[in-house]
Amino acid sequence: MSKKFNTIGVCGLSWGDEGKGKITDYLAQKADIVVRYNGGNNAGHTVNANGIKYKFKLIPSGAPLEKEVVIGNGCVVDPGVLLDEIDNLNKLGKKVNLKLSSTAHVIFPFHIALDGLEEKTKGEYSAGTTRRGIGPTYSDKAGRWGIRIFDLIHPDILKPKLEKLFRIKKDLIRIYDPNWEMDFDSMFEEYKTYGEKLKHYITDTAYYLNKAIDSGKKIVFEGAQGNLLCIDHGMYPYGTSSNPNALGISAGTGIPPRKIGKIVGIIKAYTSRVGEGKFPTELFNEIAEQIREQGHEYGTVTGRPRRVGWLDLFNLKYGIMINGIDTVIITLLDALHGITPIKVCTGYELDGRKLESWPIQHEIIKNCKPIYREFEGWNKLKEEEWSRLAQQGYDSLPETMKVYLQAIKQELNIDIAMVSIGPKRNDTIVLDENLF
Ligand code: GDP
Ligand code: IMO
Ligand code: MG
Repeated sequence: MSKKFNTIGVCGLSWGDEGKGKITDYLAQKADIVVRYNGGNNAGHTVNANGIKYKFKLIPSGAPLEKEVVIGNGCVVDPGVLLDEIDNLNKLGKKVNLKLSSTAHVIFPFHIALDGLEEKTKGEYSAGTTRRGIGPTYSDKAGRWGIRIFDLIHPDILKPKLEKLFRIKKDLIRIYDPNWEMDFDSMFEEYKTYGEKLKHYITDTAYYLNKAIDSGKKIVFEGAQGNLLCIDHGMYPYGTSSNPNALGISAGTGIPPRKIGKIVGIIKAYTSRVGEGKFPTELFNEIAEQIREQGHEYGTVTGRPRRVGWLDLFNLKYGIMINGIDTVIITLLDALHGITPIKVCTGYELDGRKLESWPIQHEIIKNCKPIYREFEGWNKLKEEEWSRLAQQGYDSLPETMKVYLQAIKQELNIDIAMVSIGPKRNDTIVLDENLF
């Protein structure tokens, strides 16, 4: 029999913001280590625990519980942002037990400048990025120009590499903006200082994590973004620059696929999207307004109002396949209260034909029409009433919500391990005690 590993991946199955931060924090209660494996400070993960609302960009959501937290090699790191996050946690009296991969790539100010300029130039092909320099940094990684965390703590290695890269980027940026200026020396000094401040966190995290797994430690891998934003399997080019799904865990940490025990897919009770690209079940009416207000659907990173729409089981089935999902967790069910009927997309129609599989290509998806099933909604409750129901357990949930959940389970042919009916850690109902 193959060995069982105490490791679990938490992956968003849509366009991000499914509540990965909340669920990671919940699972972290039983974990030793929490790891981010992809993305950078484009992510915004909210944890609401013991009266404090944390908004993490890079630091894994195990930090409020002072767990070991690891930023893996698959991430791109803006060192100034990371140091701010550490400072903020320290100010709250939290010890930050961080390990930062020496092979993660570094975001520089010219990456951020390029992100904005490229977005403008791309016009209708722009993804509506967070403009944090994520794409240009991953481009340099793939182009083998990239500067890694290791370089940051070796100024003699950093300087000549950065000088060359800076010269090239300056010429490139000036194609878009002939007046662009940046002083190399002050940038170099700033980054050298970042290196000094981060030095004691830097480790070979692949060795660290493999040894931890082999000694039986429990690990949560926290995805950023969501499956539909994946550079390979998402709705290209309207996505991010990494593999936010389970496929990214191994490459982004150095943990072999066979050491990943379980993958849990996070699904919001409806769908949201920030940025550009077709969103077949998007709503533009007053129901959208109501969901946006009730779910507080405003971007954690950029504050942009999130686009919202009905649940799309067709793209979720695709996500379950790509991620090899074992079980799902449904979040933000409370945010749909007072809305009836609630619609759920079960498939797409194209030119009068029902599609067999989710079409992947944006050019095809934009011509598809969702096919809907309707469900009766549930009554509006106050936040504390939802919290009370969470303590009372699944049986106390409104009957119509249980019908909704059972239909999702049946359509997706997958078990539901937990449901979340409020933003706080304990607004959570566990259905599978053996999840982790
Ligand atoms: P992430 O990027 O997947 O970690 O998700 P975000 O933190 O960006 O967005 C999820 C938002 O929903 C945050 O504001 C959470 O505090 C909140 N949230 C998570 N689960 C629930 C829930 O079950 N109910 C409500 N009302 N809010 C939730
Ligand atoms: P979390 O981890 C939602 C979107 C951006 C844009 C596209 C590319 O909080 O779920 P990027 O800055 O990555 O180059 O932008 O991806 N995007 C997200 N949308 N949640 C996120 O993260 C996102 N990170 C990036 O809006 O459309
Ligand atoms: Mg988010």
